[in-house]
Amino acid sequence: MSQYKGIILAGGTGSRLHPITLGVSKQLLPVYDKPLIYYPLSVLMLSGINEILIITTEQDLASFKNLLGDGSQFGVSIAYTIQPQPKGIPEAFILAEDFIGNDNCCLILGDNLFYGQYFTDKLKKAMDRDNGATVFCHHVTDPERFGVVSLDNKRQVVSIEEKPSKPISNYAVTGIYFCDKQAVEYAKGLKPSSRGELEITDVLKCYLDNGQLSAEILGRGFAWLDTGTHDSLIKAGQFVQTIEARQGLKIACLEEIAYRNNWISLSQLEAQYQLFKHASYGEYLMKIISEES
Ligand code: TTP
Repeated sequence: MSQYKGIILAGGTGSRLHPITLGVSKQLLPVYDKPLIYYPLSVLMLSGINEILIITTEQDLASFKNLLGDGSQFGVSIAYTIQPQPKGIPEAFILAEDFIGNDNCCLILGDNLFYGQYFTDKLKKAMDRDNGATVFCHHVTDPERFGVVSLDNKRQVVSIEEKPSKPISNYAVTGIYFCDKQAVEYAKGLKPSSRGELEITDVLKCYLDNGQLSAEILGRGFAWLDTGTHDSLIKAGQFVQTIEARQGLKIACLEEIAYRNNWISLSQLEAQYQLFKHASYGEYLMKIISEES
């Protein structure tokens, strides 16, 4: 399996959440009991990726550093870089060129939330592919809002289109992309679209043209939520609250994932508990500590 590095794109203007996001990054807003960025970060950690670059705005950089630091409390290494203007998702590859080096990478959007059984297996399947790119697709009611793929009966991607007026399928491309290092050169070769942004679909088309675009389907038992509007943000929070209350298990508890990956020790887990002991998040960490000691 190739070496993968993780990139979280957590800039943007969050204009659909104004006025809230005038003062704070969308990715720092709460989704029930933790900040939004915990969710995409948990996905990278579940994939076993422990070298992570967070791309954000100059205005929000200090807040992300306050929240996540160098990542050592989660057994990962977190670096940061700034995207001066939100020029589009593929700019992440260009900004991360040195970070990616000769490795493969997983780019995840900072405002996407994934939840469902066997997700880790699917992530690992994508990482088993040494070359090319893998997208994760989900059946949606409104494909015209997304990048849309059509698949053949072997589930290979046949076509991909950005926000088509007449979608060829209901399979939307979600905000997680596994790519080899060619993504950097493909991104550099792009021209902005009519809305003035570099489009991730155009990077994926380069892979498709070379017969190197694979897809994993997230089935109907799976939840893919984004949090770009006031309604979707509160619904995501309610979803997390419902699942956590019913199961007594937390979604995206970073310390839990780190501990189960053997990336942090029980004493590091205890140190994190001390920080959060007045919150339900801390109580949850204590539950894990008690089970383990
Ligand atoms: P969007 O939701 O497309 O953009 P946005 O977050 O700026 O919000 P709005 O549409 O309300 O103005 O972005 C999806 C994710 O990608 C989100 O986590 C922000 C991030 N992003 C960047 O960091 N830089 C970019 O240039 C773009 C286009 C998105």
